[in-house]
Amino acid sequence: MSKLYITTPIYYVNAKPHIGHAYTTVVCDVFARFNRMLGNDVKFTTGTDEHGKKVEQSAIKAGISPQVFTDGISKLFRDLLPVLNISNDDFIRTTEPRHKKTVQHFWQRLKDAGHIYLGEYSGWYDMRNEAYFAEDELIDGKSPLGGEVQYMAEPCYFFRLSAFQDKLLEFYENNPYFVYPVQRKNEMLSFIKQGLRDLAISRTTFSWGIPVPDDPKHVVYVWLDALTNYLTLNGYPENEDQNNDEYWNSVIHFVGKEIVKFHAIYWVAFLMAVGIKPPKQIVSHGWWLSEGEKMSKSLGNVQDPYKYCKLFGSDALRYYLLRELTFGSDGNFALESFIQRYNSVLANAYGNLCNRVLSFIQKRCDGRVSRPSELLPDDEKFINAIDVGVEQIIPLVAQYNFSKYLEKVEQMIALANQYVDFQKPWGLKDSAPKRMQDILFILTEQIFKITKCLYPVMPTSAEKLLHQIGAPYELSLMQNKTIPADVIVLKAVDPLFPRIDNTITLDVYAEQ
Ligand code: MSP
Repeated sequence: MSKLYITTPIYYVNAKPHIGHAYTTVVCDVFARFNRMLGNDVKFTTGTDEHGKKVEQSAIKAGISPQVFTDGISKLFRDLLPVLNISNDDFIRTTEPRHKKTVQHFWQRLKDAGHIYLGEYSGWYDMRNEAYFAEDELIDGKSPLGGEVQYMAEPCYFFRLSAFQDKLLEFYENNPYFVYPVQRKNEMLSFIKQGLRDLAISRTTFSWGIPVPDDPKHVVYVWLDALTNYLTLNGYPENEDQNNDEYWNSVIHFVGKEIVKFHAIYWVAFLMAVGIKPPKQIVSHGWWLSEGEKMSKSLGNVQDPYKYCKLFGSDALRYYLLRELTFGSDGNFALESFIQRYNSVLANAYGNLCNRVLSFIQKRCDGRVSRPSELLPDDEKFINAIDVGVEQIIPLVAQYNFSKYLEKVEQMIALANQYVDFQKPWGLKDSAPKRMQDILFILTEQIFKITKCLYPVMPTSAEKLLHQIGAPYELSLMQNKTIPADVIVLKAVDPLFPRIDNTITLDVYAEQ
């Protein structure tokens, strides 16, 4: 059994969660559940990133304290987890005392190692947009964002990022799979090769942050604060020896493509600076678009995960998120394709397969079937194809190819439906009742295997189905490859995935 530590990014609390956030979390959950099914010891964490000027300003605007403001939005992220059926082991808020302690300790270690110095952050400051620009970025004397600018300077601590350029390049050379996919890795390499400038890691223009040790006028830069959450969640600094910690040695950070740089460059350099091993891998995904643009609150095109879970169930949303988007690329989130996939795969192919086989056993065989004493060549061919399918999905998930993994399971479902259509067990009740039972047992056993493959993505329905066929059976992909009994006795059969009426819009559903 190997250890594995899986992390989501921690979410900003300036807006409530949307489908894009739900996606990162669901991907991690599927990867975590899949690995647990393979027998690995998984630690899986998530949380909220709560400091910074934007949050402070949003709170002022709302007329409440930043703490009350962040309490409210952080709760929305936390409450979404059971709704999405997420199996995380911990949830961190960067405003918690345990995290403050870790960040201050980490800062001190960086300082003691000589990688922090006091300097000045200066440039043309766009008040309206709260951002500094260099002289050559100005357009007609204004900021590239259109705001009036004034020259400003503030004292600020810097991290000697420039000193890590060669070490980073060497690290990338020795760890060719560090950033996934390769396109993102190449972006990182060219960013490093362009030359790294020292990084401003404190601010004095607002106070909603973790105070810098021994100089509390400064608060720690929000990315240094946020990235350190991964160590807080692994027991640092009490668990100081991270290099010999099996979870730390196998940590995989899942992130959206826009935040790879923070993880794959800054975070690695910070860790190198204090002598902690960099993460095992940074795995990056693409964006959900809505109406052709990245889904985001500011564009007003967000889709609400709560709504989808309420209307169609979390399993259906989880399935759609993983099946529709090729991992690493962008894709469009749309109700029509959601309903189309739901009806064709979940309702018609999988749901219908389970329902027709199990209700027939219930009605015609008193709810029980026995293992056949012999198999015909067609049976062997079918069983073998399903077993091969189970084997094939393992490397697909290991390569983060979630849409192919589900496509493979869909092929297995199609094979089972073909077997039913070809064998026609319904017609054998009088002419060959023994053969009919054999076919139904074989089918139920293959449904068992297929359902286990679906479990990481659709845990609620998979557990329901396994219960119907008399489980709990061990939810392991390695053990109990077949049903560990020679007689299957069904519990009450309850249809899965009723069809969605595809002429109805989301709003009509929302009103129900
Ligand atoms: N707080 C930082 C992360 C700090 S981690 C040390 C942050 N937060 S975020 O809330 O903006 O984004 C969190 C995650 O949500 C990222 O992985 C991001 O890619 C993901 N998504 C937000 N919008 C998204 C889409 N429209 N589509 C897919 N995922 C996107 O960045």
